[in-house]
Amino acid sequence: LTGALGLAACGGRTETATAQPNPPRPLRETARCPIGTCVGTDHIGDPAWVALATRHFSQLTPEFEMKMEYVLQPDGSFRFDGGDRIVAFARANGQRLYGTTLIWYEQDPAAFHPLDGSGKRFADAYRSYILAIAGRYRGQVVGWDTVNEPVAEDGNGLRQCIWSRNLGQEDYIVRAFEHAAEADPNALLFLNEYNLEHLPRKQATFLKLVERLLSRGVPIGGLGTQSHLDISLKSGVLTQTIRRLGEFGLPIHVSELDISLKPHGFNLPVGDPLQRQADLVTELAEAFMALPQRQRFAFTAWGIRDRDSWLLRRPGGTGDRPLLFDEAGEPKAAFHALQRAVSA
Ligand code: XIL
Repeated sequence: LTGALGLAACGGRTETATAQPNPPRPLRETARCPIGTCVGTDHIGDPAWVALATRHFSQLTPEFEMKMEYVLQPDGSFRFDGGDRIVAFARANGQRLYGTTLIWYEQDPAAFHPLDGSGKRFADAYRSYILAIAGRYRGQVVGWDTVNEPVAEDGNGLRQCIWSRNLGQEDYIVRAFEHAAEADPNALLFLNEYNLEHLPRKQATFLKLVERLLSRGVPIGGLGTQSHLDISLKSGVLTQTIRRLGEFGLPIHVSELDISLKPHGFNLPVGDPLQRQADLVTELAEAFMALPQRQRFAFTAWGIRDRDSWLLRRPGGTGDRPLLFDEAGEPKAAFHALQRAVSA
């Protein structure tokens, strides 16, 4: 009877001496906003990745397999197998799916080269591409990065690319949103940008672009700040960036968070780099949670474990630790900082 009473007193659970330290509660359950990460079909075949992805994340963004460079073949045909597998995985795990990206200056697909300078034929092919991919995933994605990275690298004006050359500096953006809205009227259509924190001029140009597009009636449904950061970022910049972006009243997506331990700036932080990383996560997440609920679209990390990060595949990226979980899939200080900030 004593044993039974004792057992009942601790909720019926028997603690064993060899119990592993309790893993953190699922982030997707404690967070008061959608928590996302990026996904590729190669990840889906990794049980350790799947366990973390399904436990902690309520939204997924295909890292590569819904981009034009994957979908649009040189002969003009479309490849959807990767995107389709990711759609099925997200649905099977009760996760929202967010698409990236319909139009991006970096994509310069061979299929468009013969049309370059062809006027209406180019414009028709542009519309056909957007209708094809946004139409295929209509009702299966909650939103799209409709145009990605429209602002010039140094923040002076907008990027020149095959799209702006053929359709007009801003009109390629306007058309992309119009075609995407035609293809999937219920998807939230985002304008997504990076370095808004590190480059004040780029942030200012982006905000002016948003203002102009909204004044033209462009159906922008949200703003994405990629948040590819590094530990040299000064305190306060993230708070100011989220606040400024939030002033349009649109949903905000922290869309691709990673925080490199390799400082790009000259403000070399003192102390433990991983703690500085966690402190920046706290600042960004608290600024995001200070937005009205309707504007907290999602908080997305660009990968789960440090070794999953695209940064490690870039020159000089070896040894970086930019994400929420370490090599072994254990939560880092950055994870606990995020869980505290979004679950409070
Ligand atoms: C990156 C992916 O992570 C890589 O796997 C791919 O090879 C290149 O694109 N900003 C973006 C993302 O908008 O789409 C990029 O993703 C990272 C920078």
